[in-house]
Amino acid sequence: MKYDFDEVVERRGTNSYKWNVAENELPMWVADMDFKTAPEIRAALQKRLDHGIFGYEDIPDEWYEAYQKWWERRHSLKIEKEWLIFCTGVIPAISTMVRKLSTPAEKVVIQTPVYNIFFNSILNNGRVPYENRLIYDESTGKYSIDWEDLEEKLADPQTSLFILCNPHNPSGEIWTKDVLVRIGELCKKYAVTVISDEIHCDITDPGKGYVPFAAASDICRDISVSCIAPTKCFNIAGTHTAAVFAANPVLRHKVWRGLNTDEVAEPNSFAMTAAIAAFNEGEPWLEELRAYLAENKKMIRDFIEKNLPKVKVMPSDATYLLWLNVSKYGKTSEKLAEEIREKTGLYLSAGNIFGGDGENFLRMNAACPRSLLNDGLERLKRALS
Ligand SMILES: Cc1ncc(COP(=O)(O)O)c(C=O)c1O
Repeated sequence: MKYDFDEVVERRGTNSYKWNVAENELPMWVADMDFKTAPEIRAALQKRLDHGIFGYEDIPDEWYEAYQKWWERRHSLKIEKEWLIFCTGVIPAISTMVRKLSTPAEKVVIQTPVYNIFFNSILNNGRVPYENRLIYDESTGKYSIDWEDLEEKLADPQTSLFILCNPHNPSGEIWTKDVLVRIGELCKKYAVTVISDEIHCDITDPGKGYVPFAAASDICRDISVSCIAPTKCFNIAGTHTAAVFAANPVLRHKVWRGLNTDEVAEPNSFAMTAAIAAFNEGEPWLEELRAYLAENKKMIRDFIEKNLPKVKVMPSDATYLLWLNVSKYGKTSEKLAEEIREKTGLYLSAGNIFGGDGENFLRMNAACPRSLLNDGLERLKRALS
């Protein structure tokens, strides 16, 4: 390995949201990684820093090209330059789109359990989250879509938007092309616009890829806006750099207006440099990271299977998040997470915040050096044995 993912970097005292915890605590909750980003990105940012002037910036051609080349090469999707719009984050963009593409009191469909901040983007803007609960299959330990319920919710005249999480956080499910095509057809039938959040798309297990919603069919491409970013997979969320793209010019115009009105379409001094370096130079680092994360996920699975047979780990092909079914403990996830934290200092996400059947689950973040991972697993064993 060229890159060192075993290095433990002290994050306490750096204003880290994740690591703002007590001295004895080990945070394995919020979705950022305990690895330094790629040296290539750090070098590019250092160069930008050394320039010393941090005035207002334009979006250069290199930024568009970096996204276009990456998606074409890695995800077989040709994104036209004019489809792309810079924004300061996926959540700022989703909140803007909720405001711009629906009216107050309308319903927004989400497939729960799902990334909890989707609820904020909907509720904070006076819209109604409309949960298409995913169905948990005891035998496979996986989720599937309740199609009948989805159609009923999309057919509701008050439904105007559907926010898809592709790949899905917290389950790590990569939606297949067939599933995406079917979602597209249903949304088209009921005139529902799709926002596809694809922020996790580059962290798939080695050998696995994802299908961009816009690549699934002509319908999918025409009725959707996709959110993409280098932040999750290169661990640069603090640079606030993301993009949306929409092939449909009418939809794109509305989103562009919305992002500008909300003032979330202008980059900070590091946003361009970070994204361009990530997509143009970060590929070798990302490949090694994916292998390291897949091994971490396997270690968690093996450890839990051996030591904690009451916990069932959901199979997952994407993200560095693991969804642990703890229903056999007969407690709510909130209570269980609290007990684990109090007893051992291990800080996991309680599943109830993700909606749906999340109260039966805990979410564990596997993106850390092995020494921390082993520490976390020992703490989990101590708490649950
Ligand atoms: C599915 C999903 N979307 C969006 C975000 C946050 O995106 P941003 O930091 O660009 O607002 C996260 C962060 O965990 C996420 O998991």
